[in-house]
Amino acid sequence: MRELRLPAPALRGGQANLVLAGFSATGKTSAGVLAAELLGMPFVDLDQLAERRLGSSLPEVFLTLGEARFRELEAELLGEAARLSGTVIATGGGAVLHREFATLAGGAVAVVLTAPPEEIEERLGDPATRPLVASAPGPRIRELLAERALAYSAAGTAVDTTGKSIQEVAGLVADRYRAQANDKAQRVTVSGPHAEYPVLVGEGTLDRLDGLLRSQLPKAGRVVVVSDQAVTDSAGALVGETLRTAGREVLTAAVGRGEASKQIAAVTELWDRFQALAVDRGDVIVAVGGGAGLDAIGFAAATWARGIPWVTVPTTILAMVDASIGGKVAIDRGGAKNSVGAFHQPRAVVCDPSLLLTLPASLARDGLAEVVKSAVLASPLLLDALVQARPAGEGLPPHLGWLIEQAVRIKAAYVAADPEDLGLRQSLNLGHTYAHGLEAASDYLVPHGRAVAIGLVAAARLGVSLGLTEEDLPAQLQGALDRIGLLETLPSMDRARVRAALLLDKKWRRGEPAFVVPARGGAALVSGIDLDFALEPFWELLAEASREGPELTAVPARARAGSGPAPR
Ligand SMILES: NC(=O)c1ccc[n+]([C@@H]2O[C@H](COP(=O)([O-])OP(=O)(O)OC[C@H]3O[C@@H](n4cnc5c(N)ncnc54)[C@H](O)[C@@H]3O)[C@@H](O)[C@H]2O)c1
Repeated sequence: MRELRLPAPALRGGQANLVLAGFSATGKTSAGVLAAELLGMPFVDLDQLAERRLGSSLPEVFLTLGEARFRELEAELLGEAARLSGTVIATGGGAVLHREFATLAGGAVAVVLTAPPEEIEERLGDPATRPLVASAPGPRIRELLAERALAYSAAGTAVDTTGKSIQEVAGLVADRYRAQANDKAQRVTVSGPHAEYPVLVGEGTLDRLDGLLRSQLPKAGRVVVVSDQAVTDSAGALVGETLRTAGREVLTAAVGRGEASKQIAAVTELWDRFQALAVDRGDVIVAVGGGAGLDAIGFAAATWARGIPWVTVPTTILAMVDASIGGKVAIDRGGAKNSVGAFHQPRAVVCDPSLLLTLPASLARDGLAEVVKSAVLASPLLLDALVQARPAGEGLPPHLGWLIEQAVRIKAAYVAADPEDLGLRQSLNLGHTYAHGLEAASDYLVPHGRAVAIGLVAAARLGVSLGLTEEDLPAQLQGALDRIGLLETLPSMDRARVRAALLLDKKWRRGEPAFVVPARGGAALVSGIDLDFALEPFWELLAEASREGPELTAVPARARAGSGPAPR
């Protein structure tokens, strides 16, 4: 077996985190939960995370594993927390002593909750639950406060909690965040092969589209808003109105709905429209739609007049976290998905979750498979949030905008690290080799997200059997994907067809199977393994998923003989 490690890249940009530090019993957790509610942000408590990771309460951890082991994990968790954005993060009492705390606090709004020693002692209650002070609470509290005084004063703005209710403290902390976090809409910069481009994520970012155009394309003339027909009257109209209000000359065009737009006939219609409007390289295309619409519009933009600048405004979760960033544009041909395409980097991307209001929940679920993939690859705490998440509206996890934001930052980081898809970006194929086989063999009846979900668990199980993936990951993933509704029963599949479809994967070099599996700190590309061995976990899952599933008989209109798996 050969194994190429693909470590997760650094994540940049993003809405500032709110970091809470301070001695035990100063209210970091309870005020943190309330402040998060006030700010509409998710909350993470690093001590609780440590307990989950180690499988026992902190007093037990101190007793059985010792403080040193806890501190080691604490440092690790601080590093992982620094990969999040827009999150309220409560840290442990001694966290400020780690080098990693400074990394987490840099770029964040950091608040240190304070209280006098006598009040801390009173609030602590039963000292047995606080192993560091249990022996002699009063003197130990004073000793530790003195030891940590410098670190606390350097850690952030102090908020005195003396005599204040938790609600009052939460209000003060939230106000501090509002005053100090400079920009609610987060900006991530993607370095393309030729130039950098900004990706804005957040509710209301559409209002900033005109400003973005001015900074990115100062000489741009007319704007051609090209939309997927499903969103022409909603998101498309909103984009046009926003730009007209800003004084722009706006022209409009439309492609078909979803995958139907990825046909040469639809692109030809678009070229005809461009010709009728005399669109040239001085104009700019604003593409509005899901992944399919963006692929088709981007392909038309890449080829018209040898390439017109374009900006993407995605309207599905999948398009926000995947298709809109990275510059891959393509149409389908001869039954093979994405077989004709190009690289044409957008000049800017605007991901505004308010455009998802019209999206059916089943399509939202589908897109979340890519969010789970991103979490597995590059953000253990995002994965933890997905594993812990209990369904909110329409069975979807809470903080959808936040989830999208994290995944966008991850995709942007991979694209920036490998703009032309020659190395690290292969990580993004995690689960997709299996998924493409499944999709193609079902004539694309199995939705992409469902296929990716199966593929992710299969890749994790393969990774475990190769000794590269943590043992509890497959079960965690199954739990998270199941709750999102991505592991419902599947139709029974013909194994020979799935195998044949898998073998057509264009990503495989010289015909040799290669699979991306999760590995600590990122992923690993494994090759030189027996194909049947690699397929074993996949068959297991398909058997589990299709136990009660219907036979697959219907063949959709767009399926054709000889269709192979799609290059991403
Ligand atoms: N270029 C890339 O890097 C890349 C990456 C991943 C996937 N893709 C491509 O993306 C496509 C899948 O994208 P998708 O999952 O977004 O599907 P999609 O674009 O086909 O959209 C799904 C359906 O939802 C409709 N729709 C879109 N936005 C809507 C909204 N806000 N409200 C209501 N309806 C809406 C569409 O008309 C379509 O019928 C595939 O063709 C895939 O090959 C491309």
